[in-house]
Amino acid sequence: MRVAVLISGSGTNLQALIDSTTDDPSMMSEIVLVISNKPGVEGINRARRAGILALEIDHTLFSTREEFEEEMLKALNQTQIDVICLAGFMRVLTKKFVNKWRGRLINVHPSLLPLFKGLNAQKQALESGVRVSGCTVHFVEEEIDTGAIIVQESVSINIDETEESLIEKIKEVEHLAFPKALKLLATNQVYLDKDVGKVKWLTNS
Ligand code: GRF
Repeated sequence: MRVAVLISGSGTNLQALIDSTTDDPSMMSEIVLVISNKPGVEGINRARRAGILALEIDHTLFSTREEFEEEMLKALNQTQIDVICLAGFMRVLTKKFVNKWRGRLINVHPSLLPLFKGLNAQKQALESGVRVSGCTVHFVEEEIDTGAIIVQESVSINIDETEESLIEKIKEVEHLAFPKALKLLATNQVYLDKDVGKVKWLTNS
């Protein structure tokens, strides 16, 4: 599978995806394109260091969400992308974009969904008092953080946990969960049943 990774920031999840796919044929995945909607972020440097085509498509230069997405679509088509990974990509995608890529578009979120959707998921978890949180890799649907779940990993929340320490702790498990989910998708062990919006498993993964 030819994979694009969309980012907006430091790109540690991108790095985990690069590291896991490079020279591992069993991943059945090659990252061939990275797009950041924010210019100058560290994720772009990570991609370029790995020799991956990295585009900065600044969303603020487009007057509508659709025009911004059209620019991304051009690059996705030109590089013949099969699967898109959203790895800390902080733009909401339109229904049109999501429908076009439905089943081939996955996201990582820093909570055990369906708990703590949206922004500041780690802070939401801390404030709620839960003693376990984690990350979720899921298929993307139009409604944010709602899609069918492929992989989750949990972390314990300590009594002296801070937002910063929880962010880092969850990132560590994201770096395992995201490559795992990509592999499941790329090796056809899992797919999205689009009629019901649920995951179908083809093995006992
Ligand atoms: C991750 O925690 C991801 O779940 C969230 O944004 C963060 C991105 O981190 N949506 P990085 O850019 O991969 O380091």
